[in-house]
Amino acid sequence: MHLNNQKRMTLPFTLFPHHIFLLILLLHPPPCPATGGGSWSLLLPSIGISAMHMQLLPTDRVVIYDRTDFGTSNISLPNGKCRPNSTDCSSHSVEYNIACNSIRPLMVLTNVWCSSGTLMPDGSLVQTGGWNDGDHVVRVYKSCDECDWWEVPSGLSQQRWYATNHILPDGRQIIVGGRQSFNYEFYPKMSTTETDFSLMFLVQTNEPDVENNLYPFVFLNTDGNLFIYANYRGILFDYVRSKVVRTFPAILGGDPRNYPSTGSAVLLPLRIVQGSVVNVEVLVCGGAPRGAYKNANDGKFDGALDSCGRLKISDPDPQWVTETMPLARVMGDMLLLPNGDVLIINGASAGVAGWELGRDPVLSPVIYGPDKPTNCRFEVQNPSTIARMYHSTAILLRDGRVLVGGSNPHDKYKFSDVLYPTELSLEAFLPAYLNPILSGLRPIIISPMTKTMVHHGERFIIRFQVSCLVDPNLVKITMVAPSFNTHSFSMNQRLLILDGVNTTMAVGNSHYEVSVVAPPSGNIAPAGNYILFVVHQEIPSEGIWVSIR
Ligand SMILES: *[C@@H]1O[C@H](CO)[C@@H](O)[C@H](O)[C@H]1NC(C)=O
Ligand SMILES: *[C@@H]1O[C@H](CO)[C@@H](O)[C@H](O)[C@H]1NC(C)=O
Ligand SMILES: *[C@@H]1O[C@H](CO)[C@@H](O)[C@H](O)[C@H]1NC(C)=O
Repeated sequence: MHLNNQKRMTLPFTLFPHHIFLLILLLHPPPCPATGGGSWSLLLPSIGISAMHMQLLPTDRVVIYDRTDFGTSNISLPNGKCRPNSTDCSSHSVEYNIACNSIRPLMVLTNVWCSSGTLMPDGSLVQTGGWNDGDHVVRVYKSCDECDWWEVPSGLSQQRWYATNHILPDGRQIIVGGRQSFNYEFYPKMSTTETDFSLMFLVQTNEPDVENNLYPFVFLNTDGNLFIYANYRGILFDYVRSKVVRTFPAILGGDPRNYPSTGSAVLLPLRIVQGSVVNVEVLVCGGAPRGAYKNANDGKFDGALDSCGRLKISDPDPQWVTETMPLARVMGDMLLLPNGDVLIINGASAGVAGWELGRDPVLSPVIYGPDKPTNCRFEVQNPSTIARMYHSTAILLRDGRVLVGGSNPHDKYKFSDVLYPTELSLEAFLPAYLNPILSGLRPIIISPMTKTMVHHGERFIIRFQVSCLVDPNLVKITMVAPSFNTHSFSMNQRLLILDGVNTTMAVGNSHYEVSVVAPPSGNIAPAGNYILFVVHQEIPSEGIWVSIR
């Protein structure tokens, strides 16, 4: 009913302004506390390449690469080197040194375009696939002052272009899907005869001419199975027996969420209580409505999805719960922050992923608090000035900043006469927890030292300092697995909240210690490198590298 069709309301008292205010309060729930926040800092105006893929390494450096086949980049290879059999003497991969804010060019040989990867337990990045001469190649980058990429020419049994990788409890990685590859394989392989295994789910979720299931969202569930989401639905998959264990309902609305209708997804923080994780939840946000890919190719740019679906995959009969983001977004990146919040950053508000197919950058990130009251979970952050469209990236750093780079929706580097010029800059988003005004509340880890090793299930002590400890029960210890980011998805992303709440003890002089237990198994936390944070009142310390063996 419309108000003008109704009789004018008569109120049994005179309205004063404060009554109106009360009335508004009654009609609308109180606004959520604190919106806005975070700040941006330009780190380097140009790193010479557009950051299509990024991985943080345990050496506190970031390996970054673009594709190799479009011509020259804006940074030369060192010592007058050129690409093999080519007049291209530019670099298509760099290593970013965080502490020095500097760049070193690297030589990646075959084409790594739209590839995937995983940080291995030994701290090297093992990257797989790409296009053309690179589609069966496995490449390894282990960080050191002089190190460079090396390649395993036929490391893959199938071509892998737009695939998703995940580290497994046995230390290998699984590589799932890719364009016209409805199967999965492992690296390294157990034997010379091991090849690949078919995955019908990828056939079922593939749409002719659109696909909508590339770069599937893959997470290791705490029961050892993989959660795989493609297009509009997910399964639980036993990769050892090659069996679908469970089929989850379609996401509400049934709109596609994977490339090219690119949304993003995270496994929400895993809280370990007495050696197990009770709740395992997946959050999928954004994407493009059905039909948007065809429309974008016809020059009509549909508004992006503003919905998220949250699914408790540990429930016997889970249903998607829909939540609405304050800003619609396609090609956004979802990152777990050290305190367990989810950052949604980069992307556009119309169109789809692909060359020239996105419109209207979303410059403001949004932070989602998974445990906040349902109407208060999203908080819009202060905007960047730089559009981060297709082929942009974002990763969490050990100091709690988020490194943001890339954006190149063109088939070559184009710096003028286009809507969204190729972006070579690197900037950082600083969540509000890094505000210097909070320094009295921010813990500083005293011990262990960074690069500590713990075993699964091992109890260990963390000592930290904080000037103004408000409540020892508001301290939590988190561990974040550094993820491989490309095309709006962070492979291997995982945050664990360790057992050991309520054990924080004062040991004098603003010093405290807390006794925690390392994640109990490789299903909960595959062996490898993690960043450990002490979080007090949602404000994280600078992290330390901890390796789980
Ligand atoms: C990259 O190099 C091209 C060609 O030399 C130049 O026109 C362009 O301004 C450079 N872009 C940046 C951002 O440095
Ligand atoms: C370069 O060209 C030579 C001669 O055609 C060929 O044998 C060699 O394999 C090529 N190298 C690469 C890395 O493509
Ligand atoms: C921690 O302590 C608080 C306050 O004493 C209590 O409410 C909470 O239940 C405790 N949590 C656990 C996991 O023991």
